[in-house]
Amino acid sequence: MRMVDIIIKKRSGLELTKEEIDFVIKGFTSSEIPDYQMSSLAMAIVFNGMNKKEIGYLTNAMLYSGDTISLKGIEGIKVDKHSTGGVGDKASLVLGPLVASCGVKLAKMSGRGLGHTGGTLDKLESIPGLTISIEKEDFIKQVNDIGIAIVGQTGTLVPADKKLYALRDVTGTVESIPLISSSIMSKKLASGSDTILLDVKFGSGAFMKNIDDARVLARTMVDIGDELKRDTRAILTDMNEPLGLAIGNSLEVIEAINTLNGNGPKDLVELCTKAGAIMLMQAKKVETLEEGMKLITSKIESKEALDKLAQMVKAQGGDESYIYDPSKFEKAKYEYVVRSSKEGYVKEINALEIGESAMRLGAGRATKEDTIDLSAGIILNKKVGSHVEVNEELCRVFTNKEDVSSVLEDIKESFKLSEEKVDVGPIIYEIIQ
Ligand code: URA
Repeated sequence: MRMVDIIIKKRSGLELTKEEIDFVIKGFTSSEIPDYQMSSLAMAIVFNGMNKKEIGYLTNAMLYSGDTISLKGIEGIKVDKHSTGGVGDKASLVLGPLVASCGVKLAKMSGRGLGHTGGTLDKLESIPGLTISIEKEDFIKQVNDIGIAIVGQTGTLVPADKKLYALRDVTGTVESIPLISSSIMSKKLASGSDTILLDVKFGSGAFMKNIDDARVLARTMVDIGDELKRDTRAILTDMNEPLGLAIGNSLEVIEAINTLNGNGPKDLVELCTKAGAIMLMQAKKVETLEEGMKLITSKIESKEALDKLAQMVKAQGGDESYIYDPSKFEKAKYEYVVRSSKEGYVKEINALEIGESAMRLGAGRATKEDTIDLSAGIILNKKVGSHVEVNEELCRVFTNKEDVSSVLEDIKESFKLSEEKVDVGPIIYEIIQ
């Protein structure tokens, strides 16, 4: 078999066989197939797509490109959730403790942020002392003892995706439903949970710019999970503006803590209440969405979920006093206020642009090697639908960088105003199962 023939076959829009897909993933993982040939094939897939059968073969080949994790040592149903990536998305930090405080086990492997999207691991590391590298036995023990652990993915899990994602990131081949779905599902399936909830984002800050593409991506991933007998469901959620008010690592942890204290922003609370309820249904803790939402809300009111977060932080070596006193988080040296020069109603806060601005303030990485400033970021004072007066505060900006005047200008431009009142849609548009 020759890689060049496989590239030409896909370039011509033909279906690849299981043997061909296995050959590609095996050869690429072992570096026998060079990056230039793999990126050429990835581009042919971007243009010509893959059918359901091919996507299944690709997911399977990636899933078995390295180790898989067995969570059999953990009692009960193990749930997992995954977001396709957004701006201000701290939902895992809220949802994890919420479902764990309802008695459900969450053994979660998360990722780091890249580009305009943030990553749960970076956010967690803004809590002093907390480690995301835990030995497998300790990980299993922690989930058995307290019901929750959020850790980094080991290097031996789905190595094919590690290489392929890095290549796609620099060759313009990220936005492809077969490539995204096989990337996400191979990692989720390799991490061993019984159920998977996928938060598929659409809008300016997401890979999928519109709801129709997000629906196809969600359906594709749910079908892959079903095929492998995992209870897989998806929610389609709006990423046309950042989620919640905080963007940036420690700022988002503080917002997650506030949410578990009963003071969360409306969209984040709505997302976590509904998504949490679906995860409880998947774990067979409740039968209906309403029952699940009631249970989730009660865990915020009783502060049990906040205590669960503190337990997790302590178990992973972090200082849990920060959870009870978020004013302890280190603050950035400089704080600026961005004000509106017009009056009107906010009709858009471009999430992609806000994510990129946060990155330029120091909150994100442009390349994998960059270090990030955990205290940098943005706190929105207005959301879509809000009324704004001339000179009123749109947001606050936190950074340790000296001159950020051009970033402040760009942030202001990311707020689009309209003269007419703006209706606000729900955060979750559809549930797919
Ligand atoms: N997240 C992933 O893990 N993979 C993709 O391809 C896109 C988003």
